[in-house]
Amino acid sequence: MSLTFSIIKPDATKRNITGSINELIEKNGLRIIAQKRIKLTNKQAEQFYDVHNDKPFFRDLIEYMTSEPVVVQVLSSDNAVKKYREVMGATNPDNAADGTIRKLFALNVQENSVHGSDSEENAKKEIEFFFNENEIVG
Ligand code: CMP
Repeated sequence: MSLTFSIIKPDATKRNITGSINELIEKNGLRIIAQKRIKLTNKQAEQFYDVHNDKPFFRDLIEYMTSEPVVVQVLSSDNAVKKYREVMGATNPDNAADGTIRKLFALNVQENSVHGSDSEENAKKEIEFFFNENEIVG
């Protein structure tokens, strides 16, 4: 079993579809082993997305990610990073495959309903950014 990190984003919490997204996560064989609903601070969002700080969409991204609560999660399965990226679909919902979370729920490339780690290394860093060891109970 391996782990990945997920965020259910503001566009989704605002529309009250956290449960619908969790249902898809679970139906696709991922287990939600830790989860909390929080409101990101500007500082947290800027730190989390620091890799994008030179992108034209950075300020909009920070404003959006702090606009409503998010649900941060730790997911486990075989090949969790790869599996969750398949379940999420492409970043831009126009390019996302049928049946994926983003195809079903995302509004546009920014308000794309979920985030998932892009590598094992980043999964570890992102999980540690939001969770203590004693909050991940399997
Ligand atoms: P995420 O996978 O969380 O990583 C960076 C986020 O920036 C992305 O999802 C989107 O929410 C947001 N974003 C906004 N515009 C773009 C864009 N043009 N390309 C990629 N990501 C974008």
